[in-house]
Amino acid sequence: MSIDWPALRAAAVAAAGRAYAPYSGLRVGAAGQAADGRVVTGCNVENASYGLTLCAECGLVSALHASAAEQGSAPLLAVAIVAGDGKPLLPCGRCRQLLLEAGGGELLVDTADGPVELNVLLPAAFTGADLSRRREAR
Ligand code: THU
Repeated sequence: MSIDWPALRAAAVAAAGRAYAPYSGLRVGAAGQAADGRVVTGCNVENASYGLTLCAECGLVSALHASAAEQGSAPLLAVAIVAGDGKPLLPCGRCRQLLLEAGGGELLVDTADGPVELNVLLPAAFTGADLSRRREAR
């Protein structure tokens, strides 16, 4: 499936416009395209108890699952994440890990230099396969 990057970036900009970020002043919007064609979005939501802040990518991944036709969503193929200035914002470490589970290492992430695979941003990642291999019998 081809990725409509201009549409994805525009959706991320629209989501950033709806962010709730009164504490940091950094609005973030994220838009992702799933393998079944859905475009899902998220924005950051801050809280007076700072540590409860939700990143835009958290909202996006929740929307991915919540809007799926059945349990276990189609994977994400591409994501655009922008700040309130409309320019690409690289995902934080936690969100790289979250996106990995939703799209795998081949997920395309938009950057100021164009799309790159998530593998590049999160090399040598810990995954569910490590968990299955390394967990001890209970
Ligand atoms: N933020 C995101 O939404 N995504 C990221 O990947 C980086 C940071 C938000 C969280 C917080 O509301 C603000 O940016 C400042 O850290």
